[in-house]
Amino acid sequence: MGIQFDAAISTFTLQTARTTYRMRVDERGRLLHMYYGRRIGRGDLRELYPPADHGFSPDYYPCRRRRGVSPDVLPQEYTGCNVGDFRLSCLVVRDGMTGAAGADFLYDSHEITPGKYTLEGLPCAHDEDSEAETLYIRMKDPVTGLVLVLLYGVFARQDVITRAVRLENAGTAPLRLEKAASACLDLPFGDWDLVHFHGRHAMERKMERPPLPHAITTVSSTRGASSHHHNPFVILCDHTATEDHGLCYGVMPVYSGSHRTDIEVDQNGLTRLVTGLHDERFSWQLEPGESFTAPEVLLCCTPDGLGDLSRHYHTFLRRNICRSPFRYARRPVLINNWEATYFDFNTESICRIAEKAASLGVEMMVLDDGWFGKRDDDNTGLGDWFVNEKKLPGGLQPLIERVNALGMKFGLWVEPEMVSEDSDLYRAHPDWALTLPGRTPAMGRNQLVLDMGRPEVVDYLTQRLSTLLRENHIEYIKWDMNRNMSDVYSRALPPERQGETAHRYMLGVYKLLDRLTTAFPHVLFEGCAGGGGRFDAGMLCYFPQIWCSDNTDAIERLSIQHGTSFGYPVSCMGAHVSACPNHQTGRTVPLWTRAVVAMSGTFGYELDLGRLTDEECDQVRDQIKTFQRYYDVIQNGAYYRLSDPDRQPRYVAWQTVTDTESLVSLVLTHPEANARPLHLCLKGLEEDALYKVDELNVYGVTATPESGDNPASQVGAVCSGSMLMYAGYILPHLIGDAPSVQLHLTRLP
Ligand code: DGJ
Repeated sequence: MGIQFDAAISTFTLQTARTTYRMRVDERGRLLHMYYGRRIGRGDLRELYPPADHGFSPDYYPCRRRRGVSPDVLPQEYTGCNVGDFRLSCLVVRDGMTGAAGADFLYDSHEITPGKYTLEGLPCAHDEDSEAETLYIRMKDPVTGLVLVLLYGVFARQDVITRAVRLENAGTAPLRLEKAASACLDLPFGDWDLVHFHGRHAMERKMERPPLPHAITTVSSTRGASSHHHNPFVILCDHTATEDHGLCYGVMPVYSGSHRTDIEVDQNGLTRLVTGLHDERFSWQLEPGESFTAPEVLLCCTPDGLGDLSRHYHTFLRRNICRSPFRYARRPVLINNWEATYFDFNTESICRIAEKAASLGVEMMVLDDGWFGKRDDDNTGLGDWFVNEKKLPGGLQPLIERVNALGMKFGLWVEPEMVSEDSDLYRAHPDWALTLPGRTPAMGRNQLVLDMGRPEVVDYLTQRLSTLLRENHIEYIKWDMNRNMSDVYSRALPPERQGETAHRYMLGVYKLLDRLTTAFPHVLFEGCAGGGGRFDAGMLCYFPQIWCSDNTDAIERLSIQHGTSFGYPVSCMGAHVSACPNHQTGRTVPLWTRAVVAMSGTFGYELDLGRLTDEECDQVRDQIKTFQRYYDVIQNGAYYRLSDPDRQPRYVAWQTVTDTESLVSLVLTHPEANARPLHLCLKGLEEDALYKVDELNVYGVTATPESGDNPASQVGAVCSGSMLMYAGYILPHLIGDAPSVQLHLTRLP
């Protein structure tokens, strides 16, 4: 396992537990991508790529008579620019003196080192247990002097390979990057489906799986945020791949700004994927001696289907991406006042919510938007991170003390990257906002975006937020971002550097987050962008959890959390029980079902608990106890999807499994008359182990005869793992509006 270089055939092999990644420096010095897939042994992969002359595919100059050796046909590890490969390119670079766009990289040297590389200023995976190795391959374009350093981090046991790119101007003329992707992945053989996650505000990460056409398919965002609309995560899988079988490749950029992944199927059936920063309006000036780093990408490959791919990402993100001390810690059950009060609150009303919550077992009170500046609605006040004493006389600390006296922690909402026109900050620094010269800006939620690429903005926010955190006993921060970036123009950059504004913004955000999370390690940070508009691996480096969606309707959440689960672990999905009729959809779902869904996330409440009946309060108490009882299996268990909402629209079911227990959850979304039994084949159990059905909680109406004919369904029944997985399990017959079930199994010693 690890990284090997075979000098005799100039071949690099990155070997992980179950995959092999191979590249070769060819006779001309170019780096060809030979293979990525299931683990393979020795063998000369050159035979897979015999010379073939294709019309209109140009040859390398030395091969011009012999023909058949074309950059347009061979699989490339990272493409050049404008030198004969007409497929998707990784790079557009222009010589500042001649205006020529061109680069053709030749191998220069390489280095293999223990440990994982880091990327200055950018989030990236870290080596948790000294298991990773790094490969640096240095390539050079002889004409411009542009140096391309390809970085590979190999996490062999986890079957994850990270990639990043550094471009260094080692020439004498300025260069201008107009596109700088992070990675190219050529799959010369095979036909693939593209699994991607699209959506909109309040309906994020809906999974879609079309077959790839002979065309270029793009999954991207130009919004300055990874976006609700196209999550920066795609999977290429075999047409026959299922949850449990089939070859799958995952590609996940560690980036939270505008991104782009293109996939092209070329004339010969080769599939090329290029991923990284979005190049629309992007450019970067590279003076001699300067370098530019493109964000990291996490690659994972498995022959064992989509479920296995997800579990690899879940483990990796939690262990090697999240840095927060909270990533494995038990997070407090919280109550958030947003859907309870919106902007209309004061110390007394928040204390009333906290008192009720404390009496039901809630562990943290989170004060959402509206506590600062002149902020009585969403038109004003952003940027003025000083307490609104009309609502909170005496400031935050007296409120916090009252909350703490109830035995609860206190958390606070902020939206630091934004500014309202009607704010003291904007009046003092109008040039800190992104706006185009001579134009009125497009407004989103009547607010503007701060130019986070300006060091003084980042310094100001560091100072203000640090003071807030030092002066008040705040144990949690919800970090929001409620509009996308338009009018991208920085008053601080010269004309030739305007194309850098959007990426500099992200670098500024990362710097601010790095400073604050380092200085305040005891504070639990939750990311948010109008719900899940910035739900990505970049943010997870700083935030161990992210608010999944502004849609708190439990039925809609099933689909959002299902889509999210393909890439991201339960422990990072912010999920709350909210009021019914639901504020977004008007739907009413039983309180217990709302809890079953929210429990498959970080779990909390977001409603006026004072309006609940005594019976409902008892339910909330039970829900919190249930969550605490199941905490380990929910948050630390391996996650299995048991249903596919497209193929099986009747219910949504999922399961988590540890070495000692398993929890199955099911929500019936479409009750049917005279329905077939609710039959589930469980997953992830030990075939030969015995499992005891020790809890079967039905939340809603069951039409199953009391004793049931199915002995395995009875509490106390003992079944083998093989029986539960292959013969299956019949749940009680449910009817009514959105009933749910939790089935808990304990593995017998
Ligand atoms: C959007 C968030 O997703 C909500 O939860 C809430 O915090 C509002 N912003 C507050 O403005």
